[in-house]
Amino acid sequence: MLNGKTIILGVTGGIAAYKSVELLRLLTKAGGDVHVIMTRSAQEFVTPLTFQTLSRNPVQTELFNLMGEREIGHISLADRADLFVIAPATANVIGKLACGIADDMLTTTVMATRGTVVLAPAMNVNMYLNPIYQGNEERLRRHGYLFVDPVKGDLACGWEGEGKLQTPEIIFQEVLKALTPSDLAGESLLVTAGPTREEIDPVRYLSNHSSGKMGYAIARAAWRRGARVTLISGPTALPAPWGVEMVSVESAGEMYDAVMARAGGSSVIIKAAAVADYRPVLRAGEKLKKQGGTMTLELVKNRDILTELGKDKGRRLLVGFAAETTELLHNARKKLSEKNVDLLVANDVTEVGAGFSVETNVVHLLHRDGRVEAPGLLSKEAVANLILTRVGELLRERE
Ligand code: PMT
Repeated sequence: MLNGKTIILGVTGGIAAYKSVELLRLLTKAGGDVHVIMTRSAQEFVTPLTFQTLSRNPVQTELFNLMGEREIGHISLADRADLFVIAPATANVIGKLACGIADDMLTTTVMATRGTVVLAPAMNVNMYLNPIYQGNEERLRRHGYLFVDPVKGDLACGWEGEGKLQTPEIIFQEVLKALTPSDLAGESLLVTAGPTREEIDPVRYLSNHSSGKMGYAIARAAWRRGARVTLISGPTALPAPWGVEMVSVESAGEMYDAVMARAGGSSVIIKAAAVADYRPVLRAGEKLKKQGGTMTLELVKNRDILTELGKDKGRRLLVGFAAETTELLHNARKKLSEKNVDLLVANDVTEVGAGFSVETNVVHLLHRDGRVEAPGLLSKEAVANLILTRVGELLRERE
């Protein structure tokens, strides 16, 4: 996700400095070329060698470095940066930036950069709430600096309250968002994901193999692209995506209610969930006892959420999925027209690398005008972005 991107990670002197080692690992694992600049006090907490080893780039600590100055170190680094993230950012460094003070390698390079700057503050709660600090933050926000707010918790200084550095994973997500064009800004996306469970009795249920990975990837990618996202999910083992409103449901009936309650406020609905088509006619109040050699379970059809949505779309854009095991395109075409969707994403779930649980998918995108796109094997993240690119095009066409 960060291939070809140059990121500068600034580390300042706070106890949370050790957490930026994990942030560095996430940035490099995603393919970023990361250059670390440490202030003098940051080096009291973590050694430059740790960052140098993990980034595989020299760590900058001094403004007047004889080797680096041949090409004016801070300027060349600032020019190459796609994004600058400072984590942790102390009250001191935020104060300096707000006042235009550039007296070390870090502050000088930030002032010289034209890339996006993301600041993740960490400090004592009273320092954080101090009006002078708040004024500095406000000033930087007005100048386009982005902030990843600290969280409430037990602080290293013994106090409890706001001031704890946000987790490296969330700072990483915010960095990805800051580097992604907001082409879906202003849109409200409703995404469904995961399986549903239809209870037979208090201990058993009917379900399917959906892990939620496809739908969660769409929700994450849409948030990064600037959309307001609601994710309605059946039971999965996945963490709730950052920045996304999460609604957890169990059964197809609950998913129906949750979707219908929110459909009105959505400009786009993407239904990646694997919804059970049937449920038991009766849910036994107690665990069913073993009887003879066979058992018959009577099922009744669930309402089809997508079909209901397709009946009264208005200006809303509807994207459906089709999970097939035979005659992929034939069945998918039928669903495209019967469910009245604008785009249908078909996957043959028996194909290697496609469908349930895996990290990849092999999809065919069926358009209303008969076009079919077959991009081949892609990560679910890449499939999500392809779907969202097509959604963006359809929205613009509609305008
Ligand atoms: O979750 P993963 O492990 O990542 O797996 C991804 C996936 C295989 C679940 C996903 O790629 C996928 O194909 N999702 C749709 C699964 C499905 O239920 O397909 P379907 O062909 O049975 O349904 C067609 C469409 O109608 C789907 O958009 C479905 O959400 C919708 N539907 C189905 C039944 C129902 N009662 N209500 C619905 O809205």
